[in-house]
Amino acid sequence: MTTTLTPKQRETILRAATSAPSKYNTQPWWFRWDEDDLEVHIDRTRSLPHSDPTGREAHIACGAAAFSARLGYGAFDIGTTVERLPEQVDPLFAARVRVVSDAPDPRFALLHPYLPRRRTNRAPFRDTPIPPQVVDELRAAARAEETRLHIVTWEPFYERLLTLIREATGLEEDELRDERAAWVDAPGAEHRHEGIAAESLGPLPEQPTGSVRDLAVGRDIPGRDHAAFEQQPTIAVLATCTDTRYDWLAAGQALQYILVTATRRGVAASFANQPLEDSDLRFEASRFAGPSDYAHYGSAQMILRLGLCRTEVPPTARRPLTDVLGPPPM
Ligand SMILES: Cc1cc2nc3c(=O)[nH]c(=O)nc-3n(C[C@H](O)[C@H](O)[C@H](O)COP(=O)(O)O)c2cc1C
Repeated sequence: MTTTLTPKQRETILRAATSAPSKYNTQPWWFRWDEDDLEVHIDRTRSLPHSDPTGREAHIACGAAAFSARLGYGAFDIGTTVERLPEQVDPLFAARVRVVSDAPDPRFALLHPYLPRRRTNRAPFRDTPIPPQVVDELRAAARAEETRLHIVTWEPFYERLLTLIREATGLEEDELRDERAAWVDAPGAEHRHEGIAAESLGPLPEQPTGSVRDLAVGRDIPGRDHAAFEQQPTIAVLATCTDTRYDWLAAGQALQYILVTATRRGVAASFANQPLEDSDLRFEASRFAGPSDYAHYGSAQMILRLGLCRTEVPPTARRPLTDVLGPPPM
């Protein structure tokens, strides 16, 4: 295809891509234009050897960036498809967002304006349940990207999953917490346009709850408030059939589809992925990915806490677009 995107369109698409979530806001990606197609590459210099040794979560972030880019193209009525791992010889080439002649999914243009409002929200949610039709919409978003969003409601599974999350927090090793401290409320983070600032950590729960992950656990952050959280948080597991790099990217695409759809419907999300950072606990958590008739969705990729938004939270920083057009300096 010949190049037709204007510089302004390219900027919009790239800004959409970089708005994607990533673990500790590491933004483990770089991008390259190939005519009108956008290549998404994994930036190995931003890896997390302790908490993400296989790069699974970096793939999820890149999948989310690819999906976000599609929303950007969709805003200009440009149809796209995502080729995951397009070149076998280059395992860090995560995805190519390829322009196609077909019209885009009309939902993409509707969702695009919600990208800047999507945030990981670690504040308390409303106690009112999420309307069932919205839950159905979130499930449909997961299905559209070949994954499954399982809302864990039935006892004893609900309480068991919360217990597993609490146990995983208790088992975190010092190396893992040290690695996280380099990204969460790290000195000078505001100048680095990455990582998570203290103001995004959310308040500490008045009562212990498994569902709200404290990314500063074990550290004293001056001025941090306490708050009462929702009584019965909605917990969901995003799962894939198998557990390959291809699936991790699909999980990222689905995650972003779910999160932006949720934002549009006034539903906020945070994550409690601590059990997924340890292979044994991840195996355990995968048992919550669905009832036995869905056993083929056996690989848990994300654990989400969902609820009607009560408090808007500040955005996290992103690197300037000039910094993400690669390849990055080694
Ligand atoms: C693969 C992945 C794993 C994540 N795990 C957690 C987590 O366990 N706890 C948490 O609070 N946030 C988690 N996050 C959210 C990131 O911290 C968040 O996306 C990042 O700080 C950028 O902020 P934003 O989502 O508000 O744009 C995760 C995000 C991704 C993509």
